[in-house]
Amino acid sequence: MIRAQHSLQSYNTFGIDARARWFSEIETPDALQALLKQHPDRPLFVLGGGSNLLLTRDLDQWVLHNRISGKSIVREEANNVVVRIGGGENWHETVLWSLQQGYGGLENLSLIPGTAGAAPIQNIGAYGVELSEVFERLEAIDLQTGERLEFTAEEAAFGYRDSLFKRALKGKIFITHIHLKLTRQKHACNTSYGALKNTLEEWGIHAPAPADISRAVIHIRQSKLPDPAELGNSGSFFKNPVIDKVQFESLRQQYPQVPGYPMSDAQVKVPAGWLIEQAGWKGKRVGSVGTYPKQALVLVNYGGAKGEAVWALARQIMADVKQQFSIDLQPEVNVL
Ligand code: EPU
Repeated sequence: MIRAQHSLQSYNTFGIDARARWFSEIETPDALQALLKQHPDRPLFVLGGGSNLLLTRDLDQWVLHNRISGKSIVREEANNVVVRIGGGENWHETVLWSLQQGYGGLENLSLIPGTAGAAPIQNIGAYGVELSEVFERLEAIDLQTGERLEFTAEEAAFGYRDSLFKRALKGKIFITHIHLKLTRQKHACNTSYGALKNTLEEWGIHAPAPADISRAVIHIRQSKLPDPAELGNSGSFFKNPVIDKVQFESLRQQYPQVPGYPMSDAQVKVPAGWLIEQAGWKGKRVGSVGTYPKQALVLVNYGGAKGEAVWALARQIMADVKQQFSIDLQPEVNVL
């Protein structure tokens, strides 16, 4: 079914009221192929959970909302299992399901908003783990030809919040299923992230199971990130910039407290939240938009904001950070 002039307000976690010229929910790969055949020339836009999207205008396109469901086991090995997840499945419910099955690998990625199909596009990551570490392959449909395609982890060319699907294939494919390789036993628990380690220590957990890590991650996220159901937001609005070591050292001369994570011998990742806070933007509100008081990297809609207002705030923050630190912030969310 194709709906016209459909409001997208409940389909983006910023809660922006923009409209789609046409809108369809896609429940199976076959249904998508049939629709593409019937209407070959319409400009398309693929929408997952809308959790990484800022709409600054109505979409003069045909919005395809991924509702493909299903969680199944493809293959079991001695220590591993490969699961196949429908692209429209809610990400956090997928994580909880995997833990209920006793599988490890997704626990650090608990409570990330969005869908399974969107997860590979920006290679979601949190608390020391990125999707690329468990990703095996994905199934997709070419939006131009209607053909079924597959991509391996290698072909996906994952990077920090980056992949082939965000670059050369942007807007060109519809991800129908993802395949993830999880552990059945001998779980490789990652507690390297400071806040995670501290929380587990406070709870007196010394040999955490995946479910413990998930609980700790949920606790940390709830204590510093706003729930999109209560306050419109899109998680981290910017990527953490990677700068060269020389620039980092001179920054440290001026700001001895600056946090930095070495990426290589020559490069250091600096938390954008720290830069934004230093630039004086933490917790500031401008009309119906602002930065979240507990995490400056998260821009929020206090209610009724237009996408343009969020984008104007983002640009102001980028200009101030550039002026103070000579560092360019790049949006992590997809700004339309
Ligand atoms: N910081 C501040 N002020 C702030 C926020 C952060 O000074 O207002 C500094 C602190 O020094 C803190 C450091 O920044 O120690 C790092 O902060 P945090 O642990 O909150 O992580 P982040 O770098 O801001 C990244 C991801 C998050 C992810 C967390 C945990 C990016 C762009 N963001 O945030 O991902 O949950 O690490 O792994 O990489 C998302 O992508 O939407 C997202 C929420």
